[in-house]
Amino acid sequence: MKCFYYFKEKSRNRRQRSAPELKEQENLQCSGAERVAKSSCSSASPRGIPELYEEKGHNLRVFSFTELKRATNDFSRVLKIGEGGFGSVFKGSIKPVDGNGDSVLVAIKRLNKDALQGHKQWLTEVQFLGVVEHPNLVKLIGYCALDGERGIQRLLVYEYMPNRSLEFHLFNKAYDPLPWKTRLEIALGAAQGLSYLHQELEVQVIYRDFKSSNVLLDENFKPKLSDFGLAREGPVAGDTHVSTAVMGTYGYAAPDYIETGHLTAKSDVWSFGVVLYEILTGRRSMERNRPKSEQKLLEWLKQYPPDSKKFDMIIDQRLEGQYSIHGTRKIAKLADHCLRRSAKDRPTMSQVVERLKQIIEDSDEEEQHAAEKSIEVSENDDPVEDEEKSNESGSSELWRKRMEHLAKLGEHVESASRRRFMILQRANVSS
Ligand SMILES: Nc1ncnc2c1ncn2[C@@H]1O[C@H](COP(=O)(O)OP(=O)(O)OP(=O)(O)O)[C@@H](O)[C@H]1O
Ligand SMILES: [Mg+2]
Repeated sequence: MKCFYYFKEKSRNRRQRSAPELKEQENLQCSGAERVAKSSCSSASPRGIPELYEEKGHNLRVFSFTELKRATNDFSRVLKIGEGGFGSVFKGSIKPVDGNGDSVLVAIKRLNKDALQGHKQWLTEVQFLGVVEHPNLVKLIGYCALDGERGIQRLLVYEYMPNRSLEFHLFNKAYDPLPWKTRLEIALGAAQGLSYLHQELEVQVIYRDFKSSNVLLDENFKPKLSDFGLAREGPVAGDTHVSTAVMGTYGYAAPDYIETGHLTAKSDVWSFGVVLYEILTGRRSMERNRPKSEQKLLEWLKQYPPDSKKFDMIIDQRLEGQYSIHGTRKIAKLADHCLRRSAKDRPTMSQVVERLKQIIEDSDEEEQHAAEKSIEVSENDDPVEDEEKSNESGSSELWRKRMEHLAKLGEHVESASRRRFMILQRANVSS
């Protein structure tokens, strides 16, 4: 889905300081730190992203264009793994800095040549990702900037995420559906990433582009947020919001932000609510190929409140009933909380994290109870009685029934992590 740019106002009144590598770009830049607060930024404000970048950004590797050309086989179409509003993404492999050891897989984003806008996003991404560090945020390995006679080239080199994005797994039928438990874990990880940005850094970071295509998945389906091209510093002390040009993606951006241009961390919370509903329903926030009444996910959902009888009709059919209905209702209620019209009524991301942890814990307990209950049922399902009833069917039939019963017990036992019980049953039968 493409981003939208809707410029409402723009001001460049904040002093900029760039890291050495980026200095020559200063005349072009409008970085993530170009904060336009309601009132002018005070000198007492804590360090901003450019200052923090000067301290931390030196960990980033500076690549030459030739190196990245080689890494992607001259940006071969075969190695192209994605395309977004800002450019194309290629899979590549690069050698370690010292040239020794195995090459590592990377994802290389080459920004469109639409120079000025592309450069702004690129610079913002380099500065923000050069500063942040969290298990649920994608790692930026380095970058490349080339201002040649044939125009400018801007590239970003990230750690490679083998399971692509949440978007692929939710909406692309070529992939196996994500189990309910995995969906909850992905939601939790993504929430932790946002919570870190909002509340755990020296400066608050508003991500501004939270959507399923920006939630990348590693080899264990652990989520990492990518794409910091639209990120902004949050308001400084005493201000309630940052006034910016409205940018984001249709279907995910908070209505209050679109209407006023007033950006707060609660704008991200709204987008998180939208993605929670995408996770529940397996539907995109906007689907133009559906009947009119179903195109906008949030509009369509209004007929199916979490406590209504027909609520389960919205749940992704690809889950094939393998979910806890209580869990899905709780997630929908949490999503509704994130989607409150008034930003101040939405929870903070750390509250969302706590709630998700609770929901995951409850659903684990529920699963455990269900497994234990079905073991009891299986135990009452007496195989001896069955044997007597089917005496005429001969010994092979009896053997089959015994094995089936055992297998059934085995399944329950495994799911309840009680393997010892199964071994004992086997021992009884064979003795
Ligand atoms: N680090 C990465 N590792 C593996 N795949 C990646 C990586 N970064 C991006 N991709 C793939 O490239 C796709 C395109 O990413 P990109 O961020 O350019 O566009 P988008 O998120 O789909 O849209 P938008 O430009 O609106 O943000 C992603 O959906 C993902 O599948
Ligand atoms: Mg993206």
